[in-house]
Amino acid sequence: MSATRTPRLTTRIGSLVLSNPILTASGTFGYGDEYAHVVELSALGAVITKTVTVEPRAGNAPTRIAETPAGMLNSIGLENVGLARYRAEKLPKLRKLGAHVIVSVGGETTNELVRLLEALGDERDLAGFEINFSCPNVSRGGARYWAVPRRLERTMKRLRGLTRHVLIAKLSPDVTSVGDLAIACEQGGADAVTAVNTFVGMAVDLDQRRSKLNRATGGVSGPAIKPLALARCHEAARAVRIPVIGSGGIMNARDALEFIAVGATAVQVGTASFVRPRAAQEVLEDLRSQLTLRGIKSIDEWRGCLMDALRPSANGRPARAEVAR
Ligand SMILES: Cc1cc2nc3c(=O)[nH]c(=O)nc-3n(C[C@H](O)[C@H](O)[C@H](O)COP(=O)(O)O)c2cc1C
Repeated sequence: MSATRTPRLTTRIGSLVLSNPILTASGTFGYGDEYAHVVELSALGAVITKTVTVEPRAGNAPTRIAETPAGMLNSIGLENVGLARYRAEKLPKLRKLGAHVIVSVGGETTNELVRLLEALGDERDLAGFEINFSCPNVSRGGARYWAVPRRLERTMKRLRGLTRHVLIAKLSPDVTSVGDLAIACEQGGADAVTAVNTFVGMAVDLDQRRSKLNRATGGVSGPAIKPLALARCHEAARAVRIPVIGSGGIMNARDALEFIAVGATAVQVGTASFVRPRAAQEVLEDLRSQLTLRGIKSIDEWRGCLMDALRPSANGRPARAEVAR
């Protein structure tokens, strides 16, 4: 009989206990059911669905996607079917597939988010909500509007009163301090924060003399943003006691382990699913091997393992991890 045991991956986010820390990133995995023929949805920690708004939205006019040297640029603009169809058509399908569903919700105002949670807050069998406080591709209610700590705190407090499900606040990286926004969400009653959404970026078509997107700017995602997202994730994890979920350029299990080492409790796989539709499941499967390779028996043992080493010492110089390199 083999003595080797597979590492324990159980992950807790507030009251939610997930079998593992691998989640799909909102907007990169459709409503989830589109991937059911290639990914075993019930094996993932949770599926985070496309951001839903109260009314259906057509999103921005094309062109809405452009390639960048190490990732992509998108300006989808929260295209979605709206609350009524989401509830009637999308949620029941996912439930049948046995997936743990986290619903991403977005709104131009606190009141719109309140309406969404009033409608969905009591839905049974949901794993939780991720509040999209960070879309860079909408003219109203986007990342800039929500980048005000007091507004975030007030909004979180109102939403907290509307549901017992887990509430996760998804933050923008394009702010002075992700840590300050994370603290505001924690004080407002969030169970976790996601760091981060896409970074604002541009791509120019020299021949046509215009932006490659219909809008001037879009959101950059993929490997290009991994070092930036990792730093924001670490900053947020330093700032708060609630779990931080890492997002940004996670393409494989090694990337996931980097985020978890600097303080993430769980991670989201986004752009990778466009490159390899089975990416989230592959990350999960390889995560076990990567931990076994390192003699780690439980993901709890790995979580935050670099945080102390990365703490600046009293004289302001980096502590041992940096010095040792
Ligand atoms: C095409 C596309 C659509 C997205 N739509 C949403 C969305 O509706 N809601 C949201 O919170 N994030 C959305 N995102 C951001 C992702 O969830 C993720 O946070 C970001 O892409 C960074 O992770 P990645 O580099 O692994 O893709 C979208 C990203 C892409 C590429």
